[in-house]
Amino acid sequence: MNTTPLSSRSPRPAAPWWSRPGLGYKHGKLHFAGHALAPLARRNGTPLYLYDAARVTDNLLRLRAALAARDLPFRVFYAMKSNRYPPLLRALRRLGTCGVDTCSPAEVARARACGFAADNISFTGTALSDADLAALLRHDGLVLNLDSLHDIARVGALAPGRQIGLRINPGLGIGYRRNRLLRYAGGRGTKFGIHREQFPAALRLARRHGLVVEGLHFHTGCGYLTPQLPVLAEIFSACQPFVAQVARMRYVNLGGGLGIPLIASDRPLDLSAWSALVAQQFGGRGFEIWCEPGDYLVKDAGVLLLEVNTVERKGRTLYAGVNGGFQLHIEPAFYELPLVPVPVRAAAPSARVRPTTIAGHINEALDLLHRDALLPPLANGDLLAFLNAGGYGASMASNHCMRGAFRELLLSP
Ligand SMILES: Cc1ncc(COP(=O)(O)O)c(C=O)c1O
Repeated sequence: MNTTPLSSRSPRPAAPWWSRPGLGYKHGKLHFAGHALAPLARRNGTPLYLYDAARVTDNLLRLRAALAARDLPFRVFYAMKSNRYPPLLRALRRLGTCGVDTCSPAEVARARACGFAADNISFTGTALSDADLAALLRHDGLVLNLDSLHDIARVGALAPGRQIGLRINPGLGIGYRRNRLLRYAGGRGTKFGIHREQFPAALRLARRHGLVVEGLHFHTGCGYLTPQLPVLAEIFSACQPFVAQVARMRYVNLGGGLGIPLIASDRPLDLSAWSALVAQQFGGRGFEIWCEPGDYLVKDAGVLLLEVNTVERKGRTLYAGVNGGFQLHIEPAFYELPLVPVPVRAAAPSARVRPTTIAGHINEALDLLHRDALLPPLANGDLLAFLNAGGYGASMASNHCMRGAFRELLLSP
């Protein structure tokens, strides 16, 4: 019989806000996708991107269930610009419940090589060259959304009679919290889409070439969560006058932009409220609702593992230098998005946390992966896992300072 009085038992440490099945500490060791991370780093080296196949599947199923619950005809296209790792694309292909959104001829070629049929690929690009357009038109059945009058004229000349979609800029944008850098439409003015005053000319131009406008495309920003849904409602309202002008439409593509929690005070996007809004604004109109999420499917299904190599206080700041930087994950530096570092070995319960700024190994002042993260004392050789690194990490990596090398792995339980 256990005689220890309740009050003298050491309290169980609360699970961190980001933990979930498959991600969290087990016996003091951080696990991801059901695997201990330290042995994976030892076997594969760092920098190492790891992706959780089961989490990607769950994210897709959850999104599809939210749309299915509204009884809408819908299709989901995975935005491969967020992560184009071939094993991940092939895993999605095997699921058979999503197509792919692409933005360059090379992405289309990769999607095809990973098994996606042309009519299961949607293309929405910008600043296209003649060579780009010629390469795209070789894929019979590819869904093509054009974002300029110039593209309409050129596709009209190369493929008269073809079906096209038009990317529209509804004049309003949305993004993670108050982040303005992630808005793709709106007051600031962006390069994307056909603007309201251009729309009549776009329709005339399409008609002149016998092009059939079969869809409209609206992607207005990235990372929105539940508090931003009223803005999304305004955006959807702003889309209506465009929708009303296209007869016999096959699809309205709402783009991507669905966000995930990046810090403790974020809550997951209320998918039910989101799909209710979609149904209310676009349901029952005889066309299909398409969406093309990137981050929502892959961001929280990835971590980036880096090794600490320098710990030093400079002025008032305690820096921990690591063997990666903004060349491997650009979002903190360029989009001011949080990339939360977590120690791979859990700290002793008695360890005092202190604000630690994670410095990358690139010779640019911008190259900080996180400012003032509350971390236990770090030492050389410690491993840090950066959470929510599955989207726009590896796919945006560069070779700046000739430090572009990293490995990727798709994990199954
Ligand atoms: C046209 C288009 N569609 C979809 C996406 C995917 O966005 P997200 O990853 O935020 O869902 C993007 C991202 O830039 C985009 O430009």
